[in-house]
Amino acid sequence: MIRSAVAGIGSYVPPKVVTNDDLARLMTTSDEWIQTRTGIRERRFAEEGVKCSDLAAEACRNALSDAGMTPADLDFLIFATLSPDHHFPGTGCYLQPKLGTGPIGCLDVRNQCTGFLYALTVADALIRAGVYRNILVVGAEVHSSALDFSDRGRDVAVLFGDGAAAVVLSPSSEPDRGVLYTELHADGRFARALYLDIWDISKKPYVTPETAATQDIWPQMDGKTVFKHAVSRLSEAIQHTLAVNGLSVDEIKYVIPHQANMRINQMVAQKLGFPEEKFLHNMQRYGNTTAASIPLLLDEAYRTGMIQRGDLLLLAAFGSGFTWGTALVRW
Ligand code: ACO
Repeated sequence: MIRSAVAGIGSYVPPKVVTNDDLARLMTTSDEWIQTRTGIRERRFAEEGVKCSDLAAEACRNALSDAGMTPADLDFLIFATLSPDHHFPGTGCYLQPKLGTGPIGCLDVRNQCTGFLYALTVADALIRAGVYRNILVVGAEVHSSALDFSDRGRDVAVLFGDGAAAVVLSPSSEPDRGVLYTELHADGRFARALYLDIWDISKKPYVTPETAATQDIWPQMDGKTVFKHAVSRLSEAIQHTLAVNGLSVDEIKYVIPHQANMRINQMVAQKLGFPEEKFLHNMQRYGNTTAASIPLLLDEAYRTGMIQRGDLLLLAAFGSGFTWGTALVRW
């Protein structure tokens, strides 16, 4: 039986650190407000001119080096992002020549904070079906260009950061190692609880100087609805994942949750009876990096020796769409 497993992992964050105090110079907020409600202390912002595919390229090179592979070894590329370089073509097509792969297929996944889990699920299925061998799965975001740093946008602007992380997924013949299980969900009735309106294809033309001058250019969020659903859906999905796989909380070494808000993750851990230390976090330093957040945390846990070969990890994400999902990975 063929499974897919992580053959290499890597990440990259831009060097510019933006603290909560830095944001408090742009809008009415405070380090205390942000930390109490979200756990975030600082995040990274890309400089002007840096594209999402640039951050992704750095992370992918690190993942390839960790896998001991070259770009020529890749058979397929999946790019998860909500902040693509351009509206089209897909950002995978911009990344591909930066890496110098062959003319491999490039698929963009647009599932926001759950993007990495959607991309991982597709890559896993392609490998298990024998279609491709080495698939690069990358999540990357440049949020900092599309945040409203005035008081009107402060509820959203303080949450997000820029970054990228990637894994190379390859076949593994060890039956108990690799991606053991995934589940994906969406409920589009809540599409407008967290959305960006500016690209409205029903308008002719779809963007005008008038619409560009409105709040439509910034993401809009109903924070309380997102919070409430994040806690419920993540709890349900994790519980379901444990139940269908016959697992107990004790058998999971770590939960690698999406890094949106420390309070969301703490509430989920408490609801499900997980000791808090089993839920790993790095949002304190990076904020919410959306599609990059799970692999960025995985990479950090791997590099610092927290996760070891054989550890059973439960990945879980919730985000705009609404979309949510889980994956069980034996490292
Ligand atoms: N600094 C200071 N005050 C602020 C800020 C800010 N950055 N943002 C909002 N406020 C104000 C509001 O205007 C409001 O003022 P008012 O009472 O005078 O009207 C007050 O703070 C309280 O606002 P609430 O919205 O009630 O604050 P809440 O406790 O709900 O926290 C937050 C807001 C942090 C956004 C929370 O709702 C949240 O985290 N929701 C989840 C959103 C999320 O995680 N999104 C990420 C993307 S989806 C995902 O990845 C899961």
